[in-house]
Amino acid sequence: MAGYLEMRNITKKFSGNVVLDNVNFSVDKGQVHALIGENGSGKTTLMNILAGLYTPDKGEIFINGEKVTIDSPIKAQNLGISMIHQELRVFPDLTVAENIFIKREPLKKAVPLPVIDWVEAYRETERYLKCFNLNINPRVPVGYLSYGQQRFVEIIKAISCKADLLIMDETTSALTEKEIQMLFETIREIKKLGVTVIYITHRLGEVKQIADAVTVLRDGKVVCSSNADKMNMNEIVQVMAGRKIEDRYPKIKVKMGGEVLRVQNLNYEGILHNINLDLRKGEILGIAGLSGAGRKTLAKVLFGINTPFDGTITINGKKFNSITTRTAMNNGLCYVAGTGTEESLIKQLSVARNITITNLKRVSRAGLLMPAMEAEFAADYLERLEISAEHDDIADTLSGGKQKKVALAKWLFNNARILIMDEPTAGIDIGSKVDIYNIINELVLSGASVIMISSDFAELSGMCDRVAVMYNGEIIKILNKDEISSEKILFYAAGGSERDL
Ligand SMILES: Nc1ncnc2c1ncn2[C@@H]1O[C@H](COP(=O)(O)OP(=O)(O)OP(=O)(O)O)[C@@H](O)[C@H]1O
Ligand SMILES: [Mg+2]
Repeated sequence: MAGYLEMRNITKKFSGNVVLDNVNFSVDKGQVHALIGENGSGKTTLMNILAGLYTPDKGEIFINGEKVTIDSPIKAQNLGISMIHQELRVFPDLTVAENIFIKREPLKKAVPLPVIDWVEAYRETERYLKCFNLNINPRVPVGYLSYGQQRFVEIIKAISCKADLLIMDETTSALTEKEIQMLFETIREIKKLGVTVIYITHRLGEVKQIADAVTVLRDGKVVCSSNADKMNMNEIVQVMAGRKIEDRYPKIKVKMGGEVLRVQNLNYEGILHNINLDLRKGEILGIAGLSGAGRKTLAKVLFGINTPFDGTITINGKKFNSITTRTAMNNGLCYVAGTGTEESLIKQLSVARNITITNLKRVSRAGLLMPAMEAEFAADYLERLEISAEHDDIADTLSGGKQKKVALAKWLFNNARILIMDEPTAGIDIGSKVDIYNIINELVLSGASVIMISSDFAELSGMCDRVAVMYNGEIIKILNKDEISSEKILFYAAGGSERDL
């Protein structure tokens, strides 16, 4: 029997490159269908075609056996298709309710014209928020919310459209474990209502938990498609990569040098309390914690984004009681922002410019920017980091994994000595994760130090020399190399203390 949705022989080219090659993809009604594949394999492109953002060069789409043409997002919406995009797309200045109801506000009958019924919109929003156990005021601008909360605003928006087909593109990539479980609960609920879900993820554990069927893309082709219970995870990884993943955490031993950073009695805005921390040359220090623990705030204080603070920060022996982003950068600090890549790259600029932007002097002579030099440097970094892209590609057109690598290249180019990385591997596939770990290895080998904020406790255990665990704005435990494990990190991150042991 034909499925609820069928995409037949879909081919899509971008400036001559075949990105989707004769893809056949079919999904049954009420199913959660996982779509997986390495970075750049074409997942987002395939779904953007369903959502009416791209038109395929070839191929047909059927819904309930009927051929449809989806040539605009509105058309997709009318066909009951709703997509949560890979990058957060909220309007930070609008309130929670305004974000959820934008362009489809409930109308109140009035003379002479219907007007927006905001009372109703806020009531509906409150109902949804309650449903998700979210303690958020619907009247607050979305920009004030945490990343996870903003994600939920998008999720609520998509669900409240009452779509028949919900596409989630890496929706969980920067959510905490608790938030993910909450989302899964919701998926199970809407499934009962007959809603079909296409679920893109890089986390195979999630596939196991939530998916009924799995389709794997590689280089724009479907390499396998079957029921989830028929597939084993090792097989999936191998078909995905087309090769064996040798070592998930290629941590190398680096001889550590002296102290490069010390944080003493740091307090910030009632959010961070009495933080004490040190970092040595060549060290990878993990910072763990659940959403809201203060990890990102700490990173932003160190980098001079969040000011002023109480306490002292010592960088390479120089004491600071206040820090601006400029001082931080001049002293070798850099901040590789996480979640999505929107904070790290300027999407409309070329890859080359994104790499050189942190140190344009290096590609200038007598104050003049030398494009040939810039291109050469960029090409060199792309090759060293095995990023298959051209220096003049526009950053926005690269897949998520490649964008992350470019963001790292940019700081390598700047010779950063202390890198604060916020979720360096969120939302990328296993193969690219290993590439990023190897870039981190290269960094520490060259004498840099890394502070790695991550929600992936296995990654912290695999790559870090020490892990500081935060809870409620405090560092409640620092685990040494021989004590680190995912279980221990979780125990402290959830507020456990030695007394409970
Ligand atoms: N607008 C565009 N213009 C040119 N090339 C593009 C465009 N969008 C995507 N591509 C290219 O198409 C290929 C597939 O990208 P796509 O974003 O679909 O991959 P993906 O599987 O979603 O990857 P990821 O897991 O990193 O999100 C990549 O090589 C990407 O660089
Ligand atoms: Mg994608």
